[in-house]
Amino acid sequence: MSPGPTAEKIGKYEVIDLIGRGGMGTIFRARDPVLQRPVALKVISNLEVTPELRARFFREAQACARITHPNIVIIHDMGEDSGRLFIVMELLEGEELRRVIARQAQLSLSDKLDIVLQICDGLHFAHQKGVVHRDIKPANILLLRTGQVKILDFGIAQIAGAATQRDLTRTGMFMGTLRYMAPEQVRGQADRRSDLFSVAAVSYELLSGRPPFSGDDPLQILEQLRTTTPPRLTELDSSMPTELADVIAQALQKEPGDRFADLGQMGRRLDLIRRELVGDADREAVAGDKPRNRPSSLLGPTRPPRSPTCQPAAGGRTMPECRRPTESRCPASPGSQSAPAPHSRGSSRSRSTSGFRPLLEAPPPTRPLPPCRTPARRGQRQAR
Ligand SMILES: Nc1ncnc2c1ncn2[C@@H]1O[C@H](COP(=O)(O)OP(=O)(O)OP(=O)(O)O)[C@@H](O)[C@H]1O
Ligand SMILES: [Mg+2]
Repeated sequence: MSPGPTAEKIGKYEVIDLIGRGGMGTIFRARDPVLQRPVALKVISNLEVTPELRARFFREAQACARITHPNIVIIHDMGEDSGRLFIVMELLEGEELRRVIARQAQLSLSDKLDIVLQICDGLHFAHQKGVVHRDIKPANILLLRTGQVKILDFGIAQIAGAATQRDLTRTGMFMGTLRYMAPEQVRGQADRRSDLFSVAAVSYELLSGRPPFSGDDPLQILEQLRTTTPPRLTELDSSMPTELADVIAQALQKEPGDRFADLGQMGRRLDLIRRELVGDADREAVAGDKPRNRPSSLLGPTRPPRSPTCQPAAGGRTMPECRRPTESRCPASPGSQSAPAPHSRGSSRSRSTSGFRPLLEAPPPTRPLPPCRTPARRGQRQAR
């Protein structure tokens, strides 16, 4: 779709239509007339553009633009038009995690963990670049049809931080944000461990269907954030792995120092849990010869199996199976057309190294495929 001759312009971008509104701005589908491609354009509103805010906006946007990771939305450009600050991003087609949770999408536990792991990957990478998100919540996480997760709105919270701190009840935005906010962040001290807390809060809701902290007004939520320890996941669902409940409980500790050191560490723990689940599910499927369904709610068409499996890393350590989106670039991802792992665990605790099950259709690779790599090394290799 191309805009008519009278299409509104913001900067050089031709506005096509409205995608949605959030607490801090409005997102439009737009078109870059020079590069002739569609883009998403976020116009920041509700903020008085002072010289200080403008400087902060450009500083933050520049920092975010330096982060190139498959799980983070790409920033193309930024600017100011008639006193309005705007950011230009890649245009994504997907579903907000908020909606995925709200409609109780039928995802297996390992598929949910796969989503969480991608969030960990993207954020850990940003943290290593010195950028803290500060507004991790289901509304800022987009799930593409390919199964790839994209984290949105990097740095935006920082830009509007002063405004939100001034008035807790200003908009619904802050309520949406507050439920996932670390206690120290509410006091104005956010660092990467605050993002880690927010990831755990989002994970808790994805895994259990209910947020760890809730309430009808900001003060109630604030009180919970400060004093309440949410029920362990195993209390809400006895089939939940104990290790998983442990990880989430540790990440939700009130004191930042009591959480994991970073999202890399937390991600490795979750990855082990997921690999055990996948291994168990594969064994059950083989033993029972059960057909395995793919999560229909999010799926694209099935794809033919791929082979061979990931190879052991140098030094003899077996590589963990590749995960989306990385595996979509990995020629060595096993290609079973499988299904969500049943939400169950077998008795065997052995690790699976060939348990990757495509949740969703992976996009065709657009460039030569790098070899499989460990999650820990993945970020470094994706840096530009
Ligand atoms: N790059 C993008 N491509 C396509 N859609 C997007 C993109 N970025 C955001 N959206 C969508 O635009 C809508 C509005 O997003 P926005 O970030 O303004 O709202 P929000 O996350 O609810 O609030 P907040 O202002 O607190 O972030 C959402 O539906 C979001 O999924
Ligand atoms: Mg947003």
